[in-house]
Amino acid sequence: MSEFTSAVDLEAAEAEIDLPEIGDLTRYLELMQTIRNRVTVRKFDADYTVPDEHYELILEAARHAPSGANAQPWQFVIVRDPAVKQNISDYFVAEQRFRAKAKMKFPTPDYRGLATAPGFVVVCSDMRWVNAFPVLNDGSDLDRMYKENAERILLQSVAAATMSAHLAAAALGYNVWWVTAIGQEKAQEEIRPLLNIPEEISVLDIFLFGPPAAKPYKRWRRPTEEIVHWDKYNRDYFMSDSELDDWIRNRRHRVMYKDASNVD
Ligand SMILES: Cc1cc2nc3c(=O)[nH]c(=O)nc-3n(C[C@H](O)[C@H](O)[C@H](O)COP(=O)(O)O)c2cc1C
Repeated sequence: MSEFTSAVDLEAAEAEIDLPEIGDLTRYLELMQTIRNRVTVRKFDADYTVPDEHYELILEAARHAPSGANAQPWQFVIVRDPAVKQNISDYFVAEQRFRAKAKMKFPTPDYRGLATAPGFVVVCSDMRWVNAFPVLNDGSDLDRMYKENAERILLQSVAAATMSAHLAAAALGYNVWWVTAIGQEKAQEEIRPLLNIPEEISVLDIFLFGPPAAKPYKRWRRPTEEIVHWDKYNRDYFMSDSELDDWIRNRRHRVMYKDASNVD
């Protein structure tokens, strides 16, 4: 363990809580610089090797994420073996073909970039942790309702840790790629044995990072007024089912990629 990643000593950590004066923008602006520049790329510089310390620094950020009941229900498998990266990438390329055949109409990206991603982390969780959240476990309808929320709590927790890791990678200068197209049970069955992952553990996503193979581009963001509601929900931008369908049909591919002809 490096000096950056020693486990938190609770007493020392309490003494170290150090926030700026409320309203001081210095740290906010630095953080925003990282947030704005966290940009997805789907092809990396294959010749670059990530130093082990960078994995440590990045996953240290994940370790400090908040989680429901402080369960910290996440596990991160660092993949450094090029053959394993290639295997996982091959699975995705096959999945890409399957989706095209199944006419899912999802503008699936080119997953060949997985094989050469210098930074490669498989993000896992143990779904049994839902029992750490408010559930009855008696099989009743009420239990089902609480279980559903417990699952949401768990997934939000792992997403919080994943996002912290992505931001830490961006703060170190890396581009990132968050791949969730791994969640189907069939994908998990293929990937678990490659990494000695127990059956009880769910593979939730893959976190890739590295220097980009080509200049990255910034993607479209919804304007603030479409997403922020002051005091009550502003329905000006509320979409009907058909508007939403139309958006998915005609806009989705344009906001996921630079333009429709340039799927990366
Ligand atoms: C929860 C989540 C799931 C994602 N899943 C995938 C995925 O399976 N494959 C992929 O190529 N990109 C995936 N992405 C990346 C998004 O497509 C990307 O973040 C989005 O287009 C915005 O671009 P930006 O990250 O450059 O801001 C995912 C991102 C998030 C946050």
